[in-house]
Amino acid sequence: MAISLDNFEAEIESNYDRKSELKSFDDSKIGVKGLVDAGVAKIPRIFIHDHSKISDKPCARNNKHSIPIIDLGGVHTDASRRRQTIDQLGEACQKWGFFQLISHGIPAHVLDGMVDGILQFHEQDIEVKKQFFSRDEKRKVSYNSNFDLYQTKAASWRDSLYCAMSPNPPSPEELPAVCRDITIHYLKKATNLGLTLFELVSEALGLDPNHLKNLGCAEGIFFVGHYYPACPEPGMTLGISKHSDSGFLTILLQDRLGGLQVLHEDQWVDVTPVPGALVVNLGDLLQIMSNDKFKSVYHRVIAKNVGPRISVACFFGTHFEQGTSSSSRLYGPIKQLLSKDNPPIYKETTVRDYVAQVYTKGLDGITGLEYFKL
Ligand code: OGA
Ligand code: NI
Repeated sequence: MAISLDNFEAEIESNYDRKSELKSFDDSKIGVKGLVDAGVAKIPRIFIHDHSKISDKPCARNNKHSIPIIDLGGVHTDASRRRQTIDQLGEACQKWGFFQLISHGIPAHVLDGMVDGILQFHEQDIEVKKQFFSRDEKRKVSYNSNFDLYQTKAASWRDSLYCAMSPNPPSPEELPAVCRDITIHYLKKATNLGLTLFELVSEALGLDPNHLKNLGCAEGIFFVGHYYPACPEPGMTLGISKHSDSGFLTILLQDRLGGLQVLHEDQWVDVTPVPGALVVNLGDLLQIMSNDKFKSVYHRVIAKNVGPRISVACFFGTHFEQGTSSSSRLYGPIKQLLSKDNPPIYKETTVRDYVAQVYTKGLDGITGLEYFKL
């Protein structure tokens, strides 16, 4: 279809405006929370998503489908419970790529404290919060709104705190004072839980329990504390666009508000908050390593007119560790899983190269897996 010069110029003009609007929002360092505090009744146009992107698939209407709930009680002490749990986990990883965990060993008061810590970070004095504002990937601790602000077509309704916690953690003083102690405490617990999960996922793939750990999957942890303010026009934007996580595995703590949805059988299914539970999903690199047996699925967070909603994600991956052995290690389909009938689907890649493509295009609803197919 030919586009007229007028339209073409209008488009360039609007792209031009968009760039300066993005920049002035970014330079203000106030985040989406700052817009809400200023009382915006309409969302600025940089946040408006294409309607077709928001309504790309129907939302599941009944609770016929809900993501599996897995009970980790007894996995370290009872061999038959462990076997049963591994079977359930394997099925969840194949069919959903997502599950909720209960009896995972992290006490409810630690989860509540972590959610509250992130709330306190985002709601503290703006002048203190601004000191953390940065888009410098080399900074271990930073805050901004939309890590991919300048790459995506439409910004999303959230602010985030980022901490590269492992393998080279920041010193405690670098962490924000309001959530320092709880972050360190929660991270210790989440790290242990991650190790258990990599054991169980290894076994669910029919491998030695230490297989994924020995490949370095549990070495890198990137911690993100999201803040999704109430939105005056929730139907026009998203809290986080459709994406799949790029690393190995994500442990997500969400508060009681809900809004996270998973794409399952071509429908958006709500991940209904279960008090005390943690949400776990597999990332693209584990899908590659399992040669498509286990799935890294699309998910998103819708915007709501209530809020704020808090979520805390621990991404297991080593993408922010430039120049370490783990960031240059090659990952591809695990040899033991391959056979004549199950030839490799993917090339080998480093975590750094894999994640780099997400950073150049932003979260735009297209998985990076396609680029790494053989
Ligand atoms: C993410 C993500 C979901 C949520 O940060 O990758 O999917 O509920 N977050 O915040
Ligand atoms: Ni995600």
